[in-house]
Amino acid sequence: VKLLLVGFGVVGQGLAEILMTKGAALRAQYGFNPVIVGVGTRSHGTLYHPDGLELDALLAAAQQGGLQHYAGRCLQKDNDIPNWIRTTPADVLVEASITNLQTGQPATDYCRAALETDKHVVLANKGPIALHYAELQKLARYNGLTVRFEGTVMAGTPSLTLAMEALAGCTIHEARGILNGTTNFILTQMTQGMDYATALAQAQQLGYAEADPTADVDGWDAAGKLLILAAALYGKKFTLDEISVTGITGITPADIEAARQANECYKLIARITPDFGSVSPQRIPLSDPLAAVSGATNAITYKTDLLGDVTLVGAGAGRLQTGFALLADLIAIHRQGNIKAFY
Ligand SMILES: NC(=O)c1ccc[n+]([C@@H]2O[C@H](COP(=O)([O-])OP(=O)(O)OC[C@H]3O[C@@H](n4cnc5c(N)ncnc54)[C@H](OP(=O)(O)O)[C@@H]3O)[C@@H](O)[C@H]2O)c1
Repeated sequence: VKLLLVGFGVVGQGLAEILMTKGAALRAQYGFNPVIVGVGTRSHGTLYHPDGLELDALLAAAQQGGLQHYAGRCLQKDNDIPNWIRTTPADVLVEASITNLQTGQPATDYCRAALETDKHVVLANKGPIALHYAELQKLARYNGLTVRFEGTVMAGTPSLTLAMEALAGCTIHEARGILNGTTNFILTQMTQGMDYATALAQAQQLGYAEADPTADVDGWDAAGKLLILAAALYGKKFTLDEISVTGITGITPADIEAARQANECYKLIARITPDFGSVSPQRIPLSDPLAAVSGATNAITYKTDLLGDVTLVGAGAGRLQTGFALLADLIAIHRQGNIKAFY
């Protein structure tokens, strides 16, 4: 299975590392032999070799500061990524470039280019799914292809596969969860007595929070994930403006203490139903399964008609954790058996 990988940051490198270390096991266990034939990034254009780029050389180049240091086999370099996607023979586009929740671009154009030229699409990038899910699914169906995006919500923790595949047949009345690890880490530290500024600084030091943490602490990252859940679970297109969003910056140590005294705790709860979406800090009883989710961990509870509440807890970010999401989606496409043989 020949892969074009766009984005070679934390997640792209995570996937490459997994393929390097687990390649033999994937072949033995699943008869699955993924080969990264091309990599594209904004700063360094694209690399391509039909027999596969050398994973150890790609990872070494990234360690040295970028793909300009790649010293493995390579036939072609091109700076026009959409054109490269269209003209390069491959089976799947793996999209792991940066998320833009305002436009979904340029990743959405990359996805269109892939789907119009017979390539399945697997994404970690939230933008195209949050904003253009219906269009991309329609294009995929029209061309007999698949779009999968497990990594966009809770990294490799299978929140979307659970809802869309394992719970198929249930009606999911509501999804409600902790979908942002940074804010959960900060609230957990505050519950243990730390003030907001110190907890944020610690989250940044540990690599959980960006230098500019706005998207996390103001709730927009979680809101973007609700757009994806709304589309995937309900076929509904919400915009960010239609989600009621409040972040955690107004939560004080006094609020945390008042909650503690009432056997409750604060969590940034993201909630979606077919009609309504919201992200807000909420006091929840300690008996709620979400109350026990601490640190940077994520969780989601699906409220179903046939099975009651089902809660899934796990990693929401990380190099291998999100690289695994891409791998899981690739294995799922491989198992469908409709990878078209080009060679
Ligand atoms: N990190 C996580 O734990 C995690 C979890 C779930 C989902 N995600 C999503 O996964 C995606 C990748 O995250 P990351 O942490 O790997 O990000 P990252 O470390 O910042 O890497 C982003 C990569 O995308 C490339 N890129 C940026 N703009 C591009 C463009 N216009 N065209 C082509 N390539 C472009 C960058 O290339 P340059 O270096 O040349 O700019 C870089 O190689 C994001 O959409 C993120 O939201 C990440």
